[in-house]
Amino acid sequence: MVSSLLELAPFFATYWPHVCAAALLLYLAATYLLPKVSPAPAGSTTNGQANKGIAKIKEKEDHPLAEFEEEKVDGSMAPPLHCSDTPQIPYKPQRFPEGEMVAKSREFYETLNKRRSVRFFSGEPVPMEVIENIIRAAGTAPSGAHCEPWTFVVVKDPKIKSQVREIVEQEEYLNYDRRMGEKWVTDLKFIGTSHEKPYLEEAPYLILVMKQQYHIGEDGTKYTHYYYEISTAIAAGFLLTAIHMAGLVTVTTTPLNAGVALRELLGRPASEKVMLLLPVGYPSADATVPGIARKPLEEIMVVKM
Ligand SMILES: Cc1cc2nc3c(=O)[nH]c(=O)nc-3n(C[C@H](O)[C@H](O)[C@H](O)COP(=O)(O)O)c2cc1C
Repeated sequence: MVSSLLELAPFFATYWPHVCAAALLLYLAATYLLPKVSPAPAGSTTNGQANKGIAKIKEKEDHPLAEFEEEKVDGSMAPPLHCSDTPQIPYKPQRFPEGEMVAKSREFYETLNKRRSVRFFSGEPVPMEVIENIIRAAGTAPSGAHCEPWTFVVVKDPKIKSQVREIVEQEEYLNYDRRMGEKWVTDLKFIGTSHEKPYLEEAPYLILVMKQQYHIGEDGTKYTHYYYEISTAIAAGFLLTAIHMAGLVTVTTTPLNAGVALRELLGRPASEKVMLLLPVGYPSADATVPGIARKPLEEIMVVKM
């Protein structure tokens, strides 16, 4: 081994600049041209196929994220969204005697426990005022630095609903057929879903929850939205609760790979990304839901005393 290396010494003495250049080229090619592969998380072998499906979808879903970068407006010089001298005002929330508090919290839990994701809708009309109130309720959610980084696009127009359905079904066909992989598709079988989404036309309203990465003020100033993702997810939780409390139903859907086409259809800016697509209305008379159970308290709560 050592002797063969020594034999190569005259070669390196003559050609070392070429060897160094070749090594540098190889390094650059490996760094910038080869696809980046993240190591599989521990214990991921059983979900390998589903992970592959997620990775494939992520690959395309990353595109709309990259799109955010298109608007190269520097937000670092923007004034604060809210005045630094905003006054502190008194806050006195409602307070209940302990017994009443226990009863109220129990009652609220029991009401929320009746919420189910419903995929069968009646076309029965719902007053727009109810939809406005539901969205008002979602808008009461907390948000990072009070940026309120959300837009709720309400679609009532049957023509736009059918365009939404067409976009979503086209992508869902590919998701189920090749992107998600066998494992993921099998894991979803208990729900009974497929690429077909008739509810997108049957429900009287569709609400698209858009998360705003930033917003551009009227004078062109770019305002950064802190924690826009988690803030919008919390608002979506409020929205689902408000829909349920109004006696209506929805199903939380994440239109994989359809985000950009939907955003463009709805004429929303590149700073926004579709987070959820929610059909909203009454369930059809023969609606059914999967007979699943929820985890008991002991499985979801850990107390350190
Ligand atoms: C982030 C998220 C994405 C979901 N995506 C879909 C979806 O694309 N299609 C669908 O039919 N249901 C979807 N669901 C609904 C779940 O299947 C449903 O919440 C779950 O089966 C529990 O049922 P429940 O909502 O009736 O309690 C989604 C739920 C969440 C929270």
